[in-house]
Amino acid sequence: MSDEVRVPTAILISGRGSNMAALLAAAQDPGYPARIVLVLSNRPGAAGLARARETGIPTAVVDHAAHPDRESFDAALDARLRAAGVELVALAGFMRILTEGFVRAWEGRMINIHPSLLPAFRGTRTHERALAAGVAEHGCTVHHVVPELDAGPTIAQARVPVLQGDTPEILAERVLAQEHALYPRALADVARTLRDATRH
Ligand code: GRF
Repeated sequence: MSDEVRVPTAILISGRGSNMAALLAAAQDPGYPARIVLVLSNRPGAAGLARARETGIPTAVVDHAAHPDRESFDAALDARLRAAGVELVALAGFMRILTEGFVRAWEGRMINIHPSLLPAFRGTRTHERALAAGVAEHGCTVHHVVPELDAGPTIAQARVPVLQGDTPEILAERVLAQEHALYPRALADVARTLRDATRH
């Protein structure tokens, strides 16, 4: 597939970047419909940045601590993405709440992976809360980002059983293995849809 038909995509991270690594690996296939043009972190020390640099992908830091408010941080983020020619954004463990203006500007072109079967367990500590609720099944969701946190339309989900003796850590690991398979598939679906919509 030539580069013109691979949607230029940024991955936004704040931490270790294991989902980012899964997306980068998938996008190494020249037939993958998204081309990762930038990995961006709001935290200069994010471990995922070093991982991205090792693979030769351009990286950037927009440090939230260097901006006085959410609006100025989001404006800097938006400028950096546009300067890199980004058309699609994949949040992968990006731990910042985005302003409504930023989200509206990227709506339909920004997706996120969340470690629960949404609409169950929006927000943080999802594995701990799933265990406390006694659910038999848990999992992960890739969804479009809308201004309300973890409330956007679902793109894809993967399920895992909750087993006797699970701790939040054990359950998180089982879910994470599914995240790494699910996110590359979901990003490919969204990129294909965007590409087909802009072709005509
Ligand atoms: C993942 O569990 C993801 O679902 C959540 O944050 C975690 C990020 O992990 N949004 P990693 O940085 O991709 O390893």
